[in-house]
Amino acid sequence: MRIDKLLCDLGYGTRKQVKEQIKNGMVSVNGEVVLKPEFHVDENKDLLMFNGKEISFSKYHYFMLNKPQGVLSSREKGPTPTVIDLLADENCKNLSPVGRLDKDTEGLLLITDDGKLSHNLLSPKKHVDKTYEVHLKNTITEEDIKKLEDGIDIGDDKKTLPAKCILSDDDENGYPVILLTIHEGRFHQVKRMLEAVENEVVFLRRLSMGSLQLDEDLEPGEYRELTKVELDNLLNTQQDV
Ligand code: URA
Repeated sequence: MRIDKLLCDLGYGTRKQVKEQIKNGMVSVNGEVVLKPEFHVDENKDLLMFNGKEISFSKYHYFMLNKPQGVLSSREKGPTPTVIDLLADENCKNLSPVGRLDKDTEGLLLITDDGKLSHNLLSPKKHVDKTYEVHLKNTITEEDIKKLEDGIDIGDDKKTLPAKCILSDDDENGYPVILLTIHEGRFHQVKRMLEAVENEVVFLRRLSMGSLQLDEDLEPGEYRELTKVELDNLLNTQQDV
């Protein structure tokens, strides 16, 4: 296939933009810079690089981001930076975050252009586990933990589903910390659950979603592609709904 068509199909830009990128020496095939947009490549054999990064031919892209605070979980361009802006170097057209974390929440966010996986992970029917590290303003009692675990009225039609709550060590500022695993994804759910036991979240970080765990080596704002094992586990545990 012509290299400009291939890059265009993979989402590197319009045909015109891609031709320009090739002419500017941004693309190499098997280590040699290619300057002709009509150059033919074999996707099964050739190693293609764009701006020094290997080009992936897989249909979909899957990234794990450690979302920093102050960034929106949205695709919409606006004055506030979005999680998609953080992945701008990837040149992927249709990336979207799988669900939302609040602007002040940190932690695991899967970002992909695989709409089917995203739909399955977010479907309310699937009850995908999400574990959060929750730092609290006030002490939490055994009674509060039981209420959170049993299901609690947060002002919606129904109580929350049963959850798992483990008391952890206080953080470096002396705030109590719990690890809370919920099986739904209601709006501001964790903060509202803690409000319902008259407490307040001072810091929130998501640690896992389904089988996917936040990579501790990723600093807030950093991301990486999912490994094959992580992806296989996610795809295998998410049947279509
Ligand atoms: N629950 C919240 O309250 N906020 C989040 O960002 C995620 C879960």
